[in-house]
Amino acid sequence: MKTSKIIAVGKALAQKTVTNDDLSALVDTNDQWIKSRTGIEQRRISVDESTTDLAYRASLDAMKNGNIDPNTIDMIIVATISPDSFMPSTASMLQYKLGINDRHVMAFDLNAACTGLIYGIQTAHKFIQTKTAKRALVVGAETLSRTLNWEDRSTCVLFGDGAGAVVLETSDTGIISDYTNSRGDVDMNLALPALPLRSPFTGENTCLPSWMSMNGAEIFKFATFAVKDSVDYVLNQADLDISDIKYIVPHQANERIIAKVAKVMGLPKDKFFINLMEHGNTSSASIGIALAEMMERGLVAAGDKVILTGFGGGLTWGAILHEF
Ligand code: ACO
Repeated sequence: MKTSKIIAVGKALAQKTVTNDDLSALVDTNDQWIKSRTGIEQRRISVDESTTDLAYRASLDAMKNGNIDPNTIDMIIVATISPDSFMPSTASMLQYKLGINDRHVMAFDLNAACTGLIYGIQTAHKFIQTKTAKRALVVGAETLSRTLNWEDRSTCVLFGDGAGAVVLETSDTGIISDYTNSRGDVDMNLALPALPLRSPFTGENTCLPSWMSMNGAEIFKFATFAVKDSVDYVLNQADLDISDIKYIVPHQANERIIAKVAKVMGLPKDKFFINLMEHGNTSSASIGIALAEMMERGLVAAGDKVILTGFGGGLTWGAILHEF
């Protein structure tokens, strides 16, 4: 059976660079605390670009890098937890911006939080394998800055805005194994309330008040489990050993999580690609941005096997083992 292959990758970073020192003017924090607890030195924050705008820029970048005509795309998935609207979807608006409104395209948004790109790639892969789609554009795009409480130093220092895009098509090589998983987070360890929904009978607000919230210690434990579980799963499925893998590209949440995972798995830290110091945590965009930067730096050559792995709200986690 044929598989699907990532044939192009692109990224878009929000325009404004905000350093840790800049943040210390907003909340009671400092560069040393943020850097030592997370590894983050700066993040990009959107000034006037929407999630759709960032998704569009990342898609154009991928099309340019892969010399791809947008008219050949027949499936668009946008993974996001910060869509511009629930309806229309970011994916449909992206289709419009790409100028392919008059074509036969399936387009929808997907919410698997920071695992969104992994879920999106797996979904597109299955559609391509069953010949329902020929060429899929999968984008992780976020303007998380709009979802943050900028008075809460425990969350606002962690995140950034951006988008990462990949294009997949049918091929003899490419995705070797794939894995996604979920566990309902009844304790709301990582939560972002929906729109203020009101009961028509009581007028009561039926969703949680406030902004993105997180139980950092619980998420740290979960993330350490999730990365190892995902990597082990895709290696087992593929009957490969970690020594066959050139890089692990994890969701870019926190350098300490990655260091812990490396230790638990007995791997050198440089087996993991890390760029969170420059971008912070961009949720569903982070793995796509990381992959685009690896391509820009020439870190991935034809034939290299790479594991993309994500974990996030839901709770969700998963991985893709891909030969480039
Ligand atoms: N600057 C200065 N001090 C701070 C800040 C800040 N930005 N934020 C919290 N503090 C303070 C706290 O108020 C607390 O002070 P106190 O002891 O007087 O009460 C102190 O620092 C320690 O707080 P902790 O929450 O215990 O700090 P911890 O060492 O656990 O680090 C962190 C917090 C970085 C969030 C950590 O729990 C962590 O790495 N968690 C993993 C979760 C993560 O990275 N999530 C990313 C998003 S989720 C995702 O992508 C899936």
